[in-house]
Amino acid sequence: MRHIVLIGFMGSGKTQTGKRLAEELGLKFVDVDKKITNEMKMSVNDIFSRFGEVFFRALETRAIKELRTLEETAVISVGGGLPVQEQNHKYLKELGTIVYLKGSVETLKKRLEGDRTRPLLKGADLEGKIRKMLKAREPIYKKLADVTVVTADQPITELIQEIWKKCQEFENQCLLESNSHI
Ligand code: S3P
Repeated sequence: MRHIVLIGFMGSGKTQTGKRLAEELGLKFVDVDKKITNEMKMSVNDIFSRFGEVFFRALETRAIKELRTLEETAVISVGGGLPVQEQNHKYLKELGTIVYLKGSVETLKKRLEGDRTRPLLKGADLEGKIRKMLKAREPIYKKLADVTVVTADQPITELIQEIWKKCQEFENQCLLESNSHI
């Protein structure tokens, strides 16, 4: 089995869901933001304020490239902005099945209210920021996704079951297609 890669907007629950999914499946869990902050020994906020967003994006690309050598099958969660950079698409695709965790503006807003860890959401008008960024990003998430799962108020166990079922269906479909010449 290839890796499972979770993409989606900030607040869509990639980290929490990814951790639980990995636990349930007995797989390794890798959070790309965590990998970056561990390596830099700095928070995302500090990286943005000291070195700027462009530098952070370069760290994301380096991190996702490095993950191609990961041998153990894993659930990988990537920051909401990583898929926005086109040069990352091929690396994401190479890693495995891409799952888009899709949250509505209302769900995302509810989860992101009061958050101080995300530099791009600092300041007033959280909803306006989410709407604007989601409008730009959603077509990219959709284009990249092999599987889409809506995250709202359902129990996490249900969400995880749905992700796993859809990933299996997708992988079976790929297998069928690759054997269709037999
Ligand atoms: C970002 C998302 C964050 C983090 C950084 C930038 C983005 O990750 O990488 O604050 O551009 O959407 P999460 O999606 O895990 O919050």
